[in-house]
Amino acid sequence: MNLEEKRAFFEIDVTERKLLDFKEIFGNDNQVFLEIGSGMGEFLRMRSLINHNRNFIGIEIKEKRLRQIVNNMDVERHKNVRVMRLFVDEAVTEIIPEGSIKHVFINHPDPWPKQKHHKNRIIQDKFIDTLNKLLKRKGIVWIATDDEEYAKWIVEKFSKREDFVSMYEGGFSRLPEAGHIVTYFEEMKRKEGFDPYFLKFRKQCSLENLVTQD
Ligand SMILES: C[S@@+](CC[C@H](N)C(=O)[O-])C[C@H]1O[C@@H](n2cnc3c(N)ncnc32)[C@H](O)[C@@H]1O
Repeated sequence: MNLEEKRAFFEIDVTERKLLDFKEIFGNDNQVFLEIGSGMGEFLRMRSLINHNRNFIGIEIKEKRLRQIVNNMDVERHKNVRVMRLFVDEAVTEIIPEGSIKHVFINHPDPWPKQKHHKNRIIQDKFIDTLNKLLKRKGIVWIATDDEEYAKWIVEKFSKREDFVSMYEGGFSRLPEAGHIVTYFEEMKRKEGFDPYFLKFRKQCSLENLVTQD
């Protein structure tokens, strides 16, 4: 199968910014796991094999990386994966239905280390509101970063909220959990001597959510 044929299978066209129907896309009701900033696609490629009874959506803004992700997947083995080219921001709920995602993974988000660039970081108060909207009841946000200052920034932002609780004492762990996939950026940073910080936040539910979501 050539790249164009693979793209036709794996890629969801979001140019019209219409709300997706995951049951129609995957042909089943399985839980949906979302990865934001899929890079070279290691997480999608490997985690989808481990959790073959889950559906995976990968979002990546860079065209070249999206091509690479698709090229390295196999239509049979990765039939539970779809990707889309999109810059994720608060408007992502125009495309991904609210309350439709069980786990969100953000592996090594760009750290934007300079103070004047912190506004470009994906983790912002308003974006945490968006994560809350995307997640199902008790849904989980998993974040890995090699940048200590960004890890602490993220912990501080989540710790101020009542709608999320950290699943790690002190806000992060330095040890990966079972099933952890080492991505390209994690491997590169480990070689440079930077071990990742792992962060994990669970959505807390209001009474209203208990009634309206499964
Ligand atoms: C540092 S790389 C990490 C890639 C991969 N997750 C890994 O761990 O190897 C960050 C990736 O996120 C993508 N990205 C950054 N901001 C994004 C956004 N708002 N929406 C979609 N993709 C984004 C970049 O193009 C890049 O591929």
